[in-house]
Amino acid sequence: MSKKDKIVYQIYPKSYQDTNHDGWGDIQGVISRLDYLQELGINYIWFNPMIVSPQKDNGYDVADYRQFDPRYGTMEDFEELAREAKKRGIDIMFDMVFNHTSTEHEWFQKALAGDEKYKKYYIFKKGKAPGVPPNNWQSKFAGSAWEYVEKFDEWYLHLFDKTQADLDWTNPEVRRECADIVNYWRSKGVHGFRFDVINLISKKSFEDDPNNYDGRQFYTDGPREHEYLKELNLSSFGNDPEHLTVGEMSSTTIENCIQYAGDDCNELDMVFSFHHLKVDYKNQMKWELQPADFMSLKKLFNKWQIGMQEANAWNALFWNCHDQPRSVSRFGDDKKYRRESAKMLAAALHMMRGTPYIYQGEEIGMPNAYFTDIHQYVDVESINIYAVLLQQGKTEEEVIHILQERSRDNARTPMQWDDSENGGFSDVKPWLQSASSYKDINVKNELAAKDSIFRFYQKLIKMRKEMPIVQEGLFYPLLEEDEKIFAYERKYQDESLICVNNFYPETATFTLPLEGYEVILSNYEDVTVSDTMELRPYETIVLYKK
Ligand code: GLC
Ligand code: CA
Repeated sequence: MSKKDKIVYQIYPKSYQDTNHDGWGDIQGVISRLDYLQELGINYIWFNPMIVSPQKDNGYDVADYRQFDPRYGTMEDFEELAREAKKRGIDIMFDMVFNHTSTEHEWFQKALAGDEKYKKYYIFKKGKAPGVPPNNWQSKFAGSAWEYVEKFDEWYLHLFDKTQADLDWTNPEVRRECADIVNYWRSKGVHGFRFDVINLISKKSFEDDPNNYDGRQFYTDGPREHEYLKELNLSSFGNDPEHLTVGEMSSTTIENCIQYAGDDCNELDMVFSFHHLKVDYKNQMKWELQPADFMSLKKLFNKWQIGMQEANAWNALFWNCHDQPRSVSRFGDDKKYRRESAKMLAAALHMMRGTPYIYQGEEIGMPNAYFTDIHQYVDVESINIYAVLLQQGKTEEEVIHILQERSRDNARTPMQWDDSENGGFSDVKPWLQSASSYKDINVKNELAAKDSIFRFYQKLIKMRKEMPIVQEGLFYPLLEEDEKIFAYERKYQDESLICVNNFYPETATFTLPLEGYEVILSNYEDVTVSDTMELRPYETIVLYKK
């Protein structure tokens, strides 16, 4: 199975490398950095959407599924990128945003103009009473999930921003259109697809959420979800033996993921689930801070590793993406132990069973942006929630602090290549300001550093490519009750690999029968193996025995 030796690198193209001096990353910029990615060793790149979009949600509001936004480049640029990537053993994964389109998309515009065919592409409903939306669902970006259209005296559903109208997947024409789009990109040589919030496409019913919550129970992992995915698979990428697909699954369950990403289910190759990235949400609330709950994190990893493995299903492994704050700031220590903790987090993740994803800048330990002023933010979610939190009575200072920890812009600031202006991303003002950390934390420094995070990632990647036990080995949790250490074993034939990780800035001691094991990777020098060992702050050790 091809997915098992893949390491996917995620590029947020708007922030990777600008080459034509407009402060906006472009395809040529990515081409100019392919040697860097080859050196890192990854074999797949997932690109966030580069197609035509008003950019209200940075490309997740699609206005044309088949055209590049000229700010990124042209089809010729893309073909050059695909060729140059292939030469370096790198494949390409595109992002398919099929739960919704931009309200600027031709379909929605036709719907608004009264074309019945296209009106049926979307979810329009009558309100409960004049001025009252069809139900109490909340948009994921704050406020009601419904927007009123006076002309029809109806409301359309938008689970995200009001400029992102939900498509009606019960309509077979919508499903056909989506398959056609996948096939269009397949004809351009794309084998990889990431499906955006794909477990929200089947809505169960449109009743009020009795818990006065956001309504997610009525549209998450809905009743026809698996049917739709099987159909999409059959009518598009499933015909390509080389395909690699991943679904972004919001608030999902293992039971559903077993089907989404089970070996014989004919849906997807793997899933992103997010439970492990909510352990620092107080009462499950994204905008309420608490320190990461380590025991929950550990339990979630163990549960998903074992749950998926027992059903022959496959996880995507990730700490970071364009929607999450930076992991080194969140689960590590981005000051005193930045290098140690960045490496520990990397090893803890990469040695698990699944396909690892590296988000741009993670391989050099980029921390959160820590913006201090709301005007520095661009993200629609951050700007919306800023207003809501102020309204709820929080002070400006409190809200900025929350955004410093939680905003998606923490991950979206320009890639830090060197210490020149804007971190070498662009010689003009970037669309989103560079994080001030670029002066010290950048690719140039990291490549030269003796204890380089980049070099550590290189090793992890090489291990996955070369070691069947990393690709195939079964996962068994170890030291489950330990309050500081996350540890597990992988087993394959007569081999064993043990990964032990100290998630704390203090020492931690453990006991395991380690006779015959050798250390194959660690983030400190001089590790001596014995049955009882003391780990230093954020120490990680990978042990191997045959
Ligand atoms: C996904 C994307 C996110 C986007 C949302 C709506 O969660 O990763 O960036 O805002 O879907 O498309
Ligand atoms: Ca540019």
